[in-house]
Amino acid sequence: MNQITNKDRYVHKLFNSIAEDYDRMNLLMTWGMLPRWQSFMLNKTGLKEGGHGLDVCCGTGELAFKIAKLVGTTGKITGLDFSENMLAVAKEKLAVSAAKNINFIQGDALELPFEENSFDAATNGFALRNVTDIPKAIREMARVVKPGGKVVCLEVSRPQNPLLRLGFNIYFFKIVPIIGRLVDKGKTIDNKYPAYTWLPESLKTFPDQEKLKAIFWGAGLEQVQYYGLGAGAVTVHVGTKTIKD
Ligand SMILES: C[S@@+](CC[C@H](N)C(=O)[O-])C[C@H]1O[C@@H](n2cnc3c(N)ncnc32)[C@H](O)[C@@H]1O
Repeated sequence: MNQITNKDRYVHKLFNSIAEDYDRMNLLMTWGMLPRWQSFMLNKTGLKEGGHGLDVCCGTGELAFKIAKLVGTTGKITGLDFSENMLAVAKEKLAVSAAKNINFIQGDALELPFEENSFDAATNGFALRNVTDIPKAIREMARVVKPGGKVVCLEVSRPQNPLLRLGFNIYFFKIVPIIGRLVDKGKTIDNKYPAYTWLPESLKTFPDQEKLKAIFWGAGLEQVQYYGLGAGAVTVHVGTKTIKD
């Protein structure tokens, strides 16, 4: 098991506490643009009918359900998360869905319980800000993907354009915590930030697009590219696992 840090414990408790409201809040805070961003992301995975995908930090499983459709009944998708409450929501949805090709499991993104070269692609949505070791999380995704397979991550980012950046900063750092406070009632977790105050806080130390690109390269991925969406408020990074001769 990866060494459990205070941040891990805090993040784990935080997502357990907001699991029930998570999907509604996510859609609200992304102004309904989330499904489009997820579709863009999935296009970059290269996954096809019959493929096997891994969604790391799958949360309530929204992305996994989309991947399940993409790979069809001959393919499969594994969703992994360490929050039992987020997984419980995912499993409730699975129980009433027609999808039979999804497997949700509890595990640590920093120590994936899979052999190397197991998946055709690995995805990660809005979770890199939450892990204690971003390079390790990317290395783990790269390790379990087959040579030629893609690692695709979607994360919040700051727009490059100064005017858009100002608007983003006001929204993300001032308005989001107010909306969040209505939901989490300002309740602190482990004497730290309430859940929706953590969201903007976690971006303050998160690497910018170029630094994250370098981390992808450092994890042994190549053809690393990134794409700003939502006026640069989120970014999709894509890397390909090297095919060795
Ligand atoms: C913001 S949510 C994103 C959920 C989902 N990927 C989505 O796009 O909606 C972040 C998720 O990462 C999970 N998480 C954070 N650190 C983790 C770790 N080390 N191992 C596994 N899951 C982790 C949390 O439990 C939470 O479900």
